[in-house]
Amino acid sequence: MRIAITGANGFIGKTLLRKLKERGFEPRALVRKSFNCDGIDCRIVDYDDPLSIADAIKDCDILIHNAGKTKTISFREMLSVNVGITRRIVEAVNMQENSMRLIYISTQAVSGPASAESPACESDEMKPLSNYGKSKAYAEKLIRNQCKKSFNIIRPCPVYGAGDVDFLSLFRLAKLGFSFQVGSKDKPINMIHSEQLVDFVMHVIANPNVNGESFFATDCRVYTQAEVARMIALAIGKKEPKSLKVPPVLVHGVFGISDIIGRIRHMPSAVNLEKYAEIMAEGWVADCTKARQLLGWEPADEIEQKLKETYQWYIENGWL
Ligand SMILES: NC(=O)c1ccc[n+]([C@@H]2O[C@H](COP(=O)([O-])OP(=O)(O)OC[C@H]3O[C@@H](n4cnc5c(N)ncnc54)[C@H](OP(=O)(O)O)[C@@H]3O)[C@@H](O)[C@H]2O)c1
Repeated sequence: MRIAITGANGFIGKTLLRKLKERGFEPRALVRKSFNCDGIDCRIVDYDDPLSIADAIKDCDILIHNAGKTKTISFREMLSVNVGITRRIVEAVNMQENSMRLIYISTQAVSGPASAESPACESDEMKPLSNYGKSKAYAEKLIRNQCKKSFNIIRPCPVYGAGDVDFLSLFRLAKLGFSFQVGSKDKPINMIHSEQLVDFVMHVIANPNVNGESFFATDCRVYTQAEVARMIALAIGKKEPKSLKVPPVLVHGVFGISDIIGRIRHMPSAVNLEKYAEIMAEGWVADCTKARQLLGWEPADEIEQKLKETYQWYIENGWL
């Protein structure tokens, strides 16, 4: 089976390429610039041109649309990437003569916050807090309204693993013996390892009868932020980290300043006011029932091992 992947050069894209190849699929990397193809079928694509995309995905059975921006200076730029490219991807998919299937990598951020007692379900109205979540929600709606081929939407929760930059700061903090908590309340969250996410995608691929369905992708467990910090400390061989309980007002100030500096330098920072709003939410928990029932998704309980492997990768690659 031939599978094209957009954003093949990023954290999740690279994991998709590697694991799909290992499992006997024929992945095709769609990239914007030159790329170390290393035995993989690579195509340079002009994402402004639907014909260029259509040509690059010709003869593929599946297109995984994974390219996206998680942080930008402006909402306009966020929309132009996350919605604009999706529009042209859908046009290109609609042009195909074969019965191609589109799988869109969206995000849990489209759902809005939810507690462990009342987790978000796929059927809930989307209530994103951030511009990132809003742009992905628009992209989901666009696919629903305009895609003429079969499609699925996958909404991953925070993804960790080899090559991820977002969890790296927590590993760095844990190495110094600390963890970080905003305010006095520990919040519930979901997690998924990048290879588990690829497994999830494969479960969707293996179920052609779920056309049009969206799914939250998690490891089906609920953690608290403090638990995650403890597990990271354990994974790197440290004892219980000292929790720095930072007052929200201070965090708001720091995130606000970082946001302004990012805008002045035209370099978007992960530490920004939208991230602050997401951190202050009651929690980010998604219900796993639909994925269990329709896809048979039963991930192993392997977070401790996967965090150790992530740490090992950071060390081997000089990131820590
Ligand atoms: N990481 C997470 O925790 C997480 C959680 C939920 C959902 N997601 C979603 O998963 C997808 C991949 O995320 P990631 O963490 O792997 O991010 P990443 O490492 O930043 O990779 C993003 C990819 O998108 C491509 N891209 C960015 N802007 C583009 C543009 N204007 N035109 C074409 N391609 C562009 C990048 O291409 P270049 O390499 O050419 O720059 C890169 O390959 C995103 O859609 C994200 O929303 C991620």
